[in-house]
Amino acid sequence: MISNSKMKKTSKKVVVFSGAGMSAESGLKTFRDHDGLWENYRIEEVATPEAWAADKAKVLEFYNMRRRQLMQAKPNEAHALLAKLEATHEVHIITQNIDNLHEKAGSTQVLHLHGELMKAQSERHPELIYELDKSDINLGDSCENGHQLRPNVVWFGEAVPKMQDAEIITSSAEILIVIGTSLNVYPAASLIYAVPKKCNCYLVDPKAEELLLPENWTVIRSTATEGVKSLLKDLGR
Ligand code: APR
Repeated sequence: MISNSKMKKTSKKVVVFSGAGMSAESGLKTFRDHDGLWENYRIEEVATPEAWAADKAKVLEFYNMRRRQLMQAKPNEAHALLAKLEATHEVHIITQNIDNLHEKAGSTQVLHLHGELMKAQSERHPELIYELDKSDINLGDSCENGHQLRPNVVWFGEAVPKMQDAEIITSSAEILIVIGTSLNVYPAASLIYAVPKKCNCYLVDPKAEELLLPENWTVIRSTATEGVKSLLKDLGR
């Protein structure tokens, strides 16, 4: 084992693309695993603009419940190791997760493709975004123009405004590390095709065998914490 201080700074550009499996060991449920969120809730009732139009209270409660869980959760070892990797590499995290565990672990360059649970936005003026310091958004909570606040998340059927930025970052990656995503949701999942030809690509996922990947990927069939540990040993060599 070598300590960070003894590892040579390579400044290689590492892009990490994370999904719900990244935070599973922090106690946050994934979406499509057994007992995942989408087994217990219907997407159409809590995560679409139509759901919001039909029943705002129900949508708010779904995200309030998730925010309460997040406020109790801590980053796991995989989050921490990726934050430490900044000592030796240029690290960009692109996450589909709306939790803030990458930031809490200390990662400094984090792009949230699907929004952020700890932020609210105006339902009429999406550019009006507010940090939340409490767990709940309630009916009647409003932006400075008097319009209802909603979660700052990208729902099914909505555009993904940060997709282009994510593609630009990924297009010059030297190392891509995909962790804990079923690659089911587009356009996010198409990010893996934005890498340059010479990029070294890794996948960490306990169900890696179920995913269709381009050729020449290194697959680590493991949880985020174990997988990131072994992958970083590899990068340190
Ligand atoms: N470590 C790593 N990966 C894990 C772990 C773990 N401990 N546990 C489960 N996984 C893997 C699963 O094998 C699966 O491949 O995490 C992946 C989770 O996939 P999904 O539940 O589909 O989550 P994700 O890909 O992030 O979903 C994408 O869907 O509902 C939307 O907006 C939501 O951002 C989300 C998007």
